[in-house]
Amino acid sequence: MDLDELKAKALKAIKDAKDELELTNVRNLFLSKKSEINQKMGTLKDLKEDERKSLGQKINETRSAITDAFTQKFNDIKAYNLNLKLKRETIDISLPGAGIKNIGINPLYLVEDEIINIFLGMGYSVYEGSDVETDHFNFELMNIPKDHPAREMQDTFYIDKSLLMRTHTSPAQAHAMEEAKGGPVRIICPGKCFRRDDDDLIHSHQFKQIEGLLIDKNINIGHLEKTLETFVKKLFGEKREIRMRSSYFPFTEPSVEVDVSCDKCGGKGCPVCKGTGYLEILGAGIVNPRVLKLNGYDPKEYSGFAFGIGIERVAILKYGIDDIRRFYTNDIRFLDEFKRR
Ligand code: DAH
Repeated sequence: MDLDELKAKALKAIKDAKDELELTNVRNLFLSKKSEINQKMGTLKDLKEDERKSLGQKINETRSAITDAFTQKFNDIKAYNLNLKLKRETIDISLPGAGIKNIGINPLYLVEDEIINIFLGMGYSVYEGSDVETDHFNFELMNIPKDHPAREMQDTFYIDKSLLMRTHTSPAQAHAMEEAKGGPVRIICPGKCFRRDDDDLIHSHQFKQIEGLLIDKNINIGHLEKTLETFVKKLFGEKREIRMRSSYFPFTEPSVEVDVSCDKCGGKGCPVCKGTGYLEILGAGIVNPRVLKLNGYDPKEYSGFAFGIGIERVAILKYGIDDIRRFYTNDIRFLDEFKRR
């Protein structure tokens, strides 16, 4: 076939190709090794010099015209397909959603935010821990070695032998101390905890805490008391008082349980506070020198206090909630009571 004829035929076939497959077939027909053009190339060597030159040039022109047309058509088909896909997958984002309601915010988050804000105001910064912890951080660095009885009360979900769902936010203390490299610390760490726990109206296998840790020179229990008193008055109101009862935690020495005076009876004793006049909200204490040592501090130089606030406990008190499970069941009627104003 004459080259002009071949070119015209190829260009028409390219024009007529309806999709990528057809176009590929056309390409194979006109541009592959076995194509007529290629065969013509093969005949060049038998020609005389000037004939070879002019035919060679013509073949090249023909081939690049076909190649250009092919590339152009290939891009057109691709663009067409893309447009089609985009059109098919378009969503009208201006359509209104299906009945999404402005529901309230879980009171756990309201209380958490409020507590965080109070401590931010006292110069603390928020330290993020993680829900999954190693045995080392959750227990060992908190002075709860393998055979310690405190482990009995803090059984939890184990991921493997040494990885577990943290039983308290206290391991954040060890992480913060590690990062501070023996210097002062002033952090709070809010987060989820998991524990084998009593099955009643105020305990759950999953709950939230806010851990606090302050380390500096010459810190004593007076600093702890004033800090917690300020916190309680800001959260519950100026009239509320705190009471510290001596207690035990492996990571603090001395340790205290902190109660807040009952709102209902003002501390006189009533059914809400079971006649005691006070309600328990957190554990705290002076950081045990062993914990300081375990985490790279010299207890002769530094001291500190720590506390762990149960967020559910505070929310129950603040809003008079009757059952801890209400926090986790996503009942919209319950959440609706807590629209942020
Ligand atoms: N980790 C304790 C718990 O989960 C709470 C706690 C008590 C934290 C005393 C502290 C603390 O930092 O000093 O029961």
